[in-house]
Amino acid sequence: MKPIQVALIGLGTVGCGVYQTLHIHKQRLEIVLGAPVELTTVVIENPDKHQRIAEKAPISTDISDILYNPEIDVVFEAINGKEPAFTYLKQCIQAGKHVVTANKEMFASHGRELKELAKTNDVQIGYDATTAGGIPIIQTISQLFRANQIQQVQAILNGTSNYILTEMRENKLSFSTALKQAQKWGYAEADPTNDIEGYDAFYKLMILSELIYDKQPDPENISHSGITGITGDSIEKAQQDGNRIKHIASINYDKAGNLTAAIEPVAVSKEHPLYAVEGVDNAIHLKADIVGDITLTGPGAGSFPTASAMIEDFCLILSKRPAPIPIS
Ligand code: HSE
Repeated sequence: MKPIQVALIGLGTVGCGVYQTLHIHKQRLEIVLGAPVELTTVVIENPDKHQRIAEKAPISTDISDILYNPEIDVVFEAINGKEPAFTYLKQCIQAGKHVVTANKEMFASHGRELKELAKTNDVQIGYDATTAGGIPIIQTISQLFRANQIQQVQAILNGTSNYILTEMRENKLSFSTALKQAQKWGYAEADPTNDIEGYDAFYKLMILSELIYDKQPDPENISHSGITGITGDSIEKAQQDGNRIKHIASINYDKAGNLTAAIEPVAVSKEHPLYAVEGVDNAIHLKADIVGDITLTGPGAGSFPTASAMIEDFCLILSKRPAPIPIS
């Protein structure tokens, strides 16, 4: 059977997770997809750092090695920041390749444009890994919430912040020690400012808003703060009142169709659907008009949970590909 050729851009925490998953689960993927998966090219900035991988997969610093290889069907993109990720993905889509991305900052700004470009070029774009790590929230909403109108989203969307708040409360760690641990486990970004200042949760909330409401709230309707102002004392005080402090990203949709959003620490009581979401877990609580309330919970950060979301997107994309025309 002709192999399915894929390329990978980036070998950080998430890229390595994808690389390892493709190897560890090679046989399983072959059974699921009906053909072996071959990692044809890995494009990274600094090849010297990845000599061990170079023995198993060709490494390049040049995106042209993906763009001008017509055998490559699907490109996994796992780098940080808007550029060069946005340019690379546009080029890959224009070259007729399906793409799977984990890049929330880029997708929050350019997701709409990339989705339209993918449609024009008759390829698919998977972006479940951008939001809430391993929780299949994007596919759940896009595939399974067609008739329901979602009126409210309340979510924990940053694993690092939730981990820090949990460790500060449960194990009385200082903020900086808990952050160092989150970095050690590969939850935090290379520069954790986006995690602890709430920007990472903001990007993910904007991706959800675009998906659910086909628009993002006006900036003046978004209030935004991170967890850097939370102290051991404030956590203790909340606990004495029977509450837990959670960093919650929420969107409300009013009857007039206006969107308002908030990303902020909130003291929640035992009855709140996000009270029991601990450690690196994320959760998304949806209030929808037909079904009522639903909460999806799972690992929100880390190498394998995020790689899992990318690999599932990849499998879904391939399952939707038209069958090849038999050679007569
Ligand atoms: N730094 C992110 C987090 C990684 O902690 O949630 C997953 O997007």
